[in-house]
Amino acid sequence: MDKLIVHGGHLLEGTVYVSGSKNSSLPILAATLLTRDKCVIRRVPDLSDTNYMVQILASLGAQVERASGMVTVEADSIRSEAPYDLVRKMRASVCVMGPLLARTGECLVSLPGGCVIGDRPVDLHLRGFEQLGAEVKVSGGNIHVKASPDSGDREVNMLGKHGSTVLGTDNVLMASVLTRGTTVIEGVATEPEVVDLTEFLIKMGAKIQGAGTRTLVVEGVKELHGAEHTVIPDRIEAGTFLVAGAIAGRRVTLKQADAQHMQGFIDVLVQCGYPVEISGAGDITISRIENPRGAEIRTEPYPGFPTDMQAQFTALLATVPGLSTITENIFPQRFMHVPELARMGADISMEGPTAIIRGTERLGGAPVMASDLRASAALVLAGLMAEGSTEVNRLYHIDRGYEHIDHKLGMLGARMERVKVTG
Ligand code: UD1
Repeated sequence: MDKLIVHGGHLLEGTVYVSGSKNSSLPILAATLLTRDKCVIRRVPDLSDTNYMVQILASLGAQVERASGMVTVEADSIRSEAPYDLVRKMRASVCVMGPLLARTGECLVSLPGGCVIGDRPVDLHLRGFEQLGAEVKVSGGNIHVKASPDSGDREVNMLGKHGSTVLGTDNVLMASVLTRGTTVIEGVATEPEVVDLTEFLIKMGAKIQGAGTRTLVVEGVKELHGAEHTVIPDRIEAGTFLVAGAIAGRRVTLKQADAQHMQGFIDVLVQCGYPVEISGAGDITISRIENPRGAEIRTEPYPGFPTDMQAQFTALLATVPGLSTITENIFPQRFMHVPELARMGADISMEGPTAIIRGTERLGGAPVMASDLRASAALVLAGLMAEGSTEVNRLYHIDRGYEHIDHKLGMLGARMERVKVTG
């Protein structure tokens, strides 16, 4: 188990390349199960989560090859049962349910457990499958779904009490592309990663209208064929580097980013006073300022401020003098980073799902514990500007979603070392 020791106080400057999106890669890799033909997916980031997905595809019977960002999958014949040992390691593995159901007529997947960012049910995925006409049984910790031979038209609704669901939309969409008749899916998530999956499915021969809107209309086809696809840039990795530039940078430029996907939080950086320059070529530059202002943030579904940037902005605003608030509307319990930031000197109190942040110009290094992917990133960001050294333990969380983060921040001038912890 690795830990990262971040030596604070070194100004960041330079250029960093944004990796392909983790949250696009996972469902797109799962979607390759929908055809017997070969699919080639490019710009897949080298992360433990994408490695788990590759292992799941292989254990389902697909031939998978991986070489520097390119994953080739040929799923000539597949099983419908996903292995518990692999599925339990990554919640996002539930997105193999949709393709397995479409391709084999059934799927058996273990129920994902809880996780530190709170209760994360799959009821909307299962309700969606039922509205598609499938039979769903949950017993013994497993989900068993069986497609029905029904070929009539159907309507599915993806909305729950916190809005739509990203992976639920992916699952129902993938389950419907090979289902006869017309499926109208209402209340779908419009996150760019859902649109990226939709575009890949269309390249495979799926008939889908309404990409990027709240309603998708799917005309079922008999079969899909192989396709090649390059995943979109990771807007959350890109956003994390922008915050690194704001918190500890002189001038940091992102390359191969997509600012259109990032408007929900670029707007907040601009409100805080940070100059953000966007060029059509995928470059985004952020520069340091002397007197940034606080902000009021509410996490929302896309195109609003994403929950996956909440922890990083909590770290940033903890270093911006004045009062700021962040209200978490998607995962109200997602504040595990707050007590850890407090160990570094941050002044944050909680009122329900709202963090009230009184910014301070100085944080101090401390040993801290990473609890989930984005919370870990927040601790590294705080460590970049803290006085002294910050020891971020349980680094495996960050390796789930950030490709070579220590190397990339190092290229910008950050000082940090990865240390193996034995025993
Ligand atoms: C995806 C992202 C994750 C991001 C989240 C919200 C991936 C691999 N992960 O997760 O990084 O933080 O979107 O943008 O893409 N809900 C239900 N019932 C369900 C499903 C969800 O009540 O069946 C609730 C959740 O508890 C949450 C909200 O809906 O409050 C949104 O969750 P959802 O969009 O499903 O998150 P994921 O798709 O798991």
